Amino acid sequence: MYYADEVIEEIRSRNDIVDVIGSYVNLKRKGNSHSACCPFHHEKTPSFHVSREKQMYHCFGCGVGGNVFTFLMEHENFTFPEALEALAERAGVTLPEKGMSPDAKKQADARTRIKDMNKLAAGYFHYLLKTERGENALQYLKDRGLSDDTIQKFGLGFSDVYSDDLYKYLRNKGYRDEELKDSGLVKFDEKYGFSDRFWNRVMFPIIDTNNRVIGFGGRVMGDAKPKYINTQDTLVFDKSRNLYGLNLAKKSRRAGIIFCEGYMDVISMHQAGFDNAVASLGTALTVGQVNLIKRFTDRAYLAYDSDEAGTKAALRALEIMREFEMPARVISLAPYKDPDELIKAEGSEGMERRIEEAKSGIMFEIDILAHNYNQNDPQERTQFQKEAAKRLSIIIEPMERQNYIDSVAKQYGIDGTSLKEAVTQYGISGATRVDTTVFRERSRKSPEEEKEMQQLKTERLLISWMINENSLFDTLKGVITPDDFFEPVYHDVVKELFSQYEREGSVTPAAIVNHYQSKEDHEKVSAIMQQDFDMQVTQAEKSKVITDLVKTVKLRSVEHQMTMAKGDLQRQSDLIMEKASLNKLKVTM
Ligand code: CTP
Ligand code: MN
Repeated sequence: MYYADEVIEEIRSRNDIVDVIGSYVNLKRKGNSHSACCPFHHEKTPSFHVSREKQMYHCFGCGVGGNVFTFLMEHENFTFPEALEALAERAGVTLPEKGMSPDAKKQADARTRIKDMNKLAAGYFHYLLKTERGENALQYLKDRGLSDDTIQKFGLGFSDVYSDDLYKYLRNKGYRDEELKDSGLVKFDEKYGFSDRFWNRVMFPIIDTNNRVIGFGGRVMGDAKPKYINTQDTLVFDKSRNLYGLNLAKKSRRAGIIFCEGYMDVISMHQAGFDNAVASLGTALTVGQVNLIKRFTDRAYLAYDSDEAGTKAALRALEIMREFEMPARVISLAPYKDPDELIKAEGSEGMERRIEEAKSGIMFEIDILAHNYNQNDPQERTQFQKEAAKRLSIIIEPMERQNYIDSVAKQYGIDGTSLKEAVTQYGISGATRVDTTVFRERSRKSPEEEKEMQQLKTERLLISWMINENSLFDTLKGVITPDDFFEPVYHDVVKELFSQYEREGSVTPAAIVNHYQSKEDHEKVSAIMQQDFDMQVTQAEKSKVITDLVKTVKLRSVEHQMTMAKGDLQRQSDLIMEKASLNKLKVTM
């Protein structure tokens, strides 16, 4: 999966960052810099900057930043290879084959063909919805309260009443019977030959996180059965590893991901502003789906139907969430049946309030438990309390456990001490690490950490100066070396900058970002290069600032080496000399 550095750099250099980012956000130009309100956090005044010169972006508000690859990784939630592939396509560069076996290649081609057919089908269904033939379907969606904008956003469509309408359409586009069958869009029957899987239904394209149509759900426009039909599993469609709406929810700025049961719930939620809603694809929640959302969020909400089936599904979902250490809360929709109904009755405000009041998984489970026992019968009540204690015993963190014990005791009028005893009796049950639905705040920094941050900042500033004033690479050669930089990433960056300068007489900061594959590293590297300095200052002022920065960085480096050289007297005395000479150090620009 790895591409050569030259390939990566070529693709980067062929995708101008201002053009690429400009296609996602509305950039305003000011001198050399382009700015906008940051797409990664909420703000009213623009602190998001894109530099054409450096081919980098940075937000002074929330700290995100990087090169053109980072942007796609952040904005589309792509992995590095995915970002690379998308930008290669954009620039019309063909990536070298990734050494695939002929069989693997055939499969990859078949996958691509299926995605292409799905895309054509989605386009065709959407087109039909807007024609006379789709009049009823469009009316149906409007009657259910969907706006044109929502219909557009979800790419909703209509499959016509003829049972081979799409089959003919795709045949005309050059697809063969065999591949049409593999796409899941068409069925084959000995007696009737080829026919469409979906006809006379409202169509919901299912789009994955790379924005490809991988399958469809189709709903009847009345009470006929089955209410929904879904694409069966194909080479590109795996129900257990995808979620309806995640292509949009992954970009949401709302906290967490909200799981609903139905397609219509998701659509209704998004229309009401809850654009972090998703749904399973006609099955119960799976392990693969929880793993999938782990890439995008650190908490889940369940907004399942309030009937018995929905409650059961929620309990099962909580078990899976727990197994995968995804904190989960349950949104109560009663007396309404599902999110769609609740929003119709109480609007966005109602839903917002329910989200705020969502119960932690454990409290929800104990609630359900309480209803299963007759609280007026001493024996049943005891049984309930034991079961509740068992639940509470899976909480590992002592303080949190205590807090839950207190809440349960209070809510159900149980004596706190005896509940605690019962919980202790069960011990910390097994390996189930819990939950716990208390979304933790980030911890504060200690004085040592503060000092560390200060040092890092100095290192960072010095690097920024070097990038802004390339002549510093000559001036500082031999004065400061990559080894003087404490932070490993900075060390690597300085090393690379010196060698770029040696090779080319200039530096290309954005190319250095390519060496890293994770978003976190991209941010770290680009944070170094964010700074633009006011070049109005005099040479003397500049010299002073840089002298101070160099001194601070060198001092820490020498002190560190002294600790490392304990016992080596000769080395120690050399270092003491070097430390003393730092006082006299002066950089002249
Ligand atoms: N489902 C399915 N096949 C069915 C019924 C349901 O695959 N025969 C799946 C669909 O993914 C559906 C979800 O289960 O979205 C929830 O079902 P339901 O609550 O019946 O449908 P809603 O999406 O709420 O649709 P509506 O509001 O139109 O009733
Ligand atoms: Mn429903």
